[in-house]
Parts: sequence; structure tokens; C-alpha cells
Amino acid sequence: MSIQQKKLSIGLFGFGVVGTGLYKVLQKTASLNAQVQKVCIKHPEKKREAPSDLFTVDPEILLQDESINVIVELIDDADAAFEIVSRALISGKAVVSANKKMIAEHLPELLKLQEKYNTPFLYESACCASIPVIRNLEEYYDNDLLQSLNGIVNGSTNYILTRVSKDKLSFNEALALAQAEGFAESNPSLDVEGIDAVNKLSILLAHAYGIVTHPQRVVYSGIQNLQSYDATFAQEKGYEIKLVAQAKKLEDGNVAAFVLPQFIENGNQLFNVQNEYNGVVIESGFADKQFFYGKGAGSFPTASAVLSDLSALRYDYKYEYKKLHNNTGTQITNDFFLRVYISFEGLFQVPHERFERIEEWSSNDSRCYVIGIISFAKLLESNWWKKKNVSLIVCPDAFVSGIVEKASVKEELAFV
Ligand code: HSE
Repeated sequence: MSIQQKKLSIGLFGFGVVGTGLYKVLQKTASLNAQVQKVCIKHPEKKREAPSDLFTVDPEILLQDESINVIVELIDDADAAFEIVSRALISGKAVVSANKKMIAEHLPELLKLQEKYNTPFLYESACCASIPVIRNLEEYYDNDLLQSLNGIVNGSTNYILTRVSKDKLSFNEALALAQAEGFAESNPSLDVEGIDAVNKLSILLAHAYGIVTHPQRVVYSGIQNLQSYDATFAQEKGYEIKLVAQAKKLEDGNVAAFVLPQFIENGNQLFNVQNEYNGVVIESGFADKQFFYGKGAGSFPTASAVLSDLSALRYDYKYEYKKLHNNTGTQITNDFFLRVYISFEGLFQVPHERFERIEEWSSNDSRCYVIGIISFAKLLESNWWKKKNVSLIVCPDAFVSGIVEKASVKEELAFV
């Protein structure tokens, strides 16, 4: 029987920031005809804002209850989440999840399960929380027309960058606030080191370009190595530093994709995206640029996307993965050139041979920066740019064509 004619009877896993938010939001949306039947939690000793008979610590009570037709998975542990989601899909229950790490790491298996058991699996809240970016990419933009996607997709790092820049807070003070607000992951290094953002980017790649790739195969870095020297540089040039997830279709039809800090110029729609807000700029052939903006983290904004997925289940909505099924070989490439700023501790560490071209450099007693063109493929040959005292920031006019690549560097060379 189609779920459309049924009331949504929900088995909820997790009652943390988002789970609690969803519970409260559902109390206010009677028209959805959805009811939380049971909630599975890990810590029964915690005080909860809901009747105690709603809770259990036994997942089987939810998974084996035939009256429950939707599992909403909002837990932290990606491995346990994968187990729950797989079991639910196999048993024919529709699933809504916010677990970007689990989805990004297990997308191939999850695609097979959806197909084999013909069960809907929706996860709009996993990317940019309140912004309906997945469904828009899935339904609205045709593969050939989608030229690029640039997004601030992690609320915590954007919150930290904003508080450091506007309120002159220290990095750790800003992180503590992001945690207190419920924006950060329980392991905040997932946010700070760019892992959460790259998980989201790999989910977006499937819906934007039909590319299924493990997040570990996408280049990323977070904001952990940024220095006050870089912030001063940005301020002098009138830039904001943002952690940007991007994907761009190149002339050969393949896609450049990465998550790196970037200098954003005033005039770019991402410039004014502050605090826990996320923003995504989508560029397509005929429509030109479109900008999606909204809260990217937090209890109610994330719950609102879960709510929207629940509502979509009532009319049997499923992702069709149209781009994936129509993909004629589009894949990720590292074969392109990028304009970057790199700052170092001390003049003598600058590996100028790593640049195809140096356009600008400057130094003071303690630190030095270089702006130049790098081969992205060569950048990946070693991790020198991920070292603690090095910060790499993508420049505003990032993609450069017409560069003749130099031979690969075999050893570290000094800038003398
Ligand atoms: N920690 C995530 C963020 C939560 O800050 O964006 C929302 O996915």
C-alpha cells in the first residue's frame, strides 16, 4: 500500500539537538498527520522533554514494529546509523536521515538497497540543513546545464570565521560558542578540518552531476591552519575568508571538486553569508547564477528539512538519481590549474618550484605569502601544503587555463 494513504508512524533514532527539534516541530504541524511512535536513545538517564514511555534503548522495538512505516535516523554514530538505515530499507520502511557522514561513506550500498527494496530514502537535512539544495539539484537542474556549484556548507566553521573576524574572538572561544549553540558535530574536528563539508560535497556531487565518489577521494582542507596573518591579508584586500565546497564542470566535461578555504570578494553572494548560515551559488548555462541561502545548522533549521522529507514521503517522493542514471562518463578530475595564496612561517620554506607561476609574494620577519598558479594534480602528490604552519587559500579568480605545466618536483626546494 502506498504510504500516501497512510498516516506517518515514525520510529525515531536519536533525541539530541535535531531529534528534539523534530519532536517539537511535529507537535506544531498537525496537518502532516505524522506521529512519533517510539524513540530509541542511547542514554536513558538523560532528562528528556517528552513522555518517558516514548523512549526505549532497544532498536529492535522500532525496527520490528510493523505499525511503524518511517524510520527517522538522527544519531551521531555513522556505523550504527548505516546498520539501522539498511535494516529499515530492507524491511520496507521509508527512511529519512540527516547523517551526512554515513550517507557520503555508504552511498553505493544505499543506492543498491533503495533499488532492490524499492524503499524511499530521503536526506535533505544532510546538506545545508534548511536549504532545499538536494531536491533542487535532483529535480530542477539538468546535468548538461549545471556549470558550477559553490557553497558554504558547514555552519560551524562559518560561525567560527565570522566570530573571529567580527568580534575578534579567539578560534577556541568561537568554537566553544558553536558547540554551545548545537551547530558543531560532537567531534568538532569533523567541522574544523573540513570533513563534514567534504561529506556534504560528495552527496551534492551525486545529485548535481551523477558522480558517486567516496569523500576520501575528494580533496579537502578545513580552517585549522588559518593564521591571523591570513586574516590581516584578507582584511587589507577587502576579502572574507570562507570554507567553500565547490564543483565545476570543465571544458573536457569532467568535474573539478574540492573543499578549501577561499578569499571571497565583496559582490560574490557568499561574501555576506555569516554565522551558522549556509549559502550555495549554482551556475547554469541559461539561468546564470542562482543563490540559495539559509540556516545550515541548528535544531529547528535541520528539523525543518527532516519535516519536509516526511511531507514528501506522503506523496511517495523518491530520489530518482537521474543524473547518475544518465551519466555518460562525467567524473572527477584533478587535471586543472588553480590560483592560490599560500602563507608560510619564514621565507626559506617556500617551495617555489611547486608553483607553475608566481604572481605576487611578500614577507615580514615571521611569515611570508606567495600567490601563484599551481597544478591541482601536482598539489596532490604530497601533503606539504597541509602542514600545520602552512595555510593554503584559494584566490577569488581561481580557475586558470592555458598553463603549460612544469616537470614534477622530486624534492623540497628552498625559495632562495
Ligand atoms: N556540524 C554541522 C555544521 C551541522 O556545522 O554545518 C549541520 O550539518
